[in-house]
Amino acid sequence: MTMQGEKVLRVHGGADTLGVARFDFSTNSNACCPCPQSLHAVQHADATHYPDPDYRDLRQALADFHAVDVRRVVLAGSASEFIFRISALAAQMASARGEIAQVWLPACAYGDYAYAAQAWGLRQVQDPQAAQLLWACEPSSPLGQAHSLWPAWLHQPHSTPQPPDAQLVLDCAYAPLQLQGQSSLTDVQRDKVWCLWTPNKALGLTGVRAAYAIAPLQADATVQSLQALAASWSVGAHGVAMLHNWVQADTQAWLAQCRSQLQVWKQRQLAALENLGWECLPSLANFSAPARLWIWMCRRCAQLASNCGIPRRWACRAISGSRCCRLWRKMRCSRTCSVTCKWAKCYKRAAYERPLRHGAGHDQRRR
Ligand SMILES: Cc1ncc(COP(=O)(O)O)c(C=O)c1O
Repeated sequence: MTMQGEKVLRVHGGADTLGVARFDFSTNSNACCPCPQSLHAVQHADATHYPDPDYRDLRQALADFHAVDVRRVVLAGSASEFIFRISALAAQMASARGEIAQVWLPACAYGDYAYAAQAWGLRQVQDPQAAQLLWACEPSSPLGQAHSLWPAWLHQPHSTPQPPDAQLVLDCAYAPLQLQGQSSLTDVQRDKVWCLWTPNKALGLTGVRAAYAIAPLQADATVQSLQALAASWSVGAHGVAMLHNWVQADTQAWLAQCRSQLQVWKQRQLAALENLGWECLPSLANFSAPARLWIWMCRRCAQLASNCGIPRRWACRAISGSRCCRLWRKMRCSRTCSVTCKWAKCYKRAAYERPLRHGAGHDQRRR
């Protein structure tokens, strides 16, 4: 899917009119969830008052946790809200220069980057050097891999200024659930980018909406502009409770234990999948994507899937009369899958998915 010509559709998995999916493949949330301490903190949040509009204590606690100056901490209603707000700012800044803001997106990424860019009229470019707003996610979603296409200015010496108004946002949504390897960026490089943190996934509390970003060094003016674009009290009492709890030592200790447990479960799951004939791509995170994905679906859905650029290694088989797979619309490779997801949502048929051994014959099950 591209933003030129085609309209980006916003489709998420999770609960819908059919209720909560029994096996929800749309989220990479921590399978050990929820974090008991965080849940307790959220359940006991005092929702009878407005929070401090400047969130002074919370911002200080987050600044201490990341060992940065408190002025670099920007709170957001959620990572998605931040994605929209910084896209709005990129549009506003470019418009002040009489230009259209250019955005660069990874090939496969969280769909809200593209959706927000579309909403704010940003133009998608293929060259990361040409963009004023760039998105990176590590471990990436949905592949769980390291980010590779960094702009050249990030590798230049500290003293070399980056292009004016170029903002790179590193989405760290799954960094707390990274099971192997380290961030591709050095501390010096991280100081040149926005690091976006949304702990609700690591804590298994995705229903609680709250996130924050650590601004690059010397970005005071941009921080103020972003804050000016925020609604008052963008984080509610439950979000404040979750973020305060996030930085507690016992919560981080719980998370470290989760990573060990997830490592074991992941290996077991990969072995089980391999046994069933599924190949998985290497991943650093608690989730991984299939190298080949056989999904049985009707011809129309399969056609739509290939039209909207599903990776070729994910093979789609068209079987006349087969029922469309609920998994299909629950997958979250949003940039590529959302058209299919949208269509499948309308299709409203029962879940049906079956992994296939390579080389096996046609699906025998017919409706
Ligand atoms: C990579 C990535 N970034 C951001 C988000 C949005 O996070 P939030 O729940 O804080 O809006 C998601 C949601 O799934 C995600 O996968």
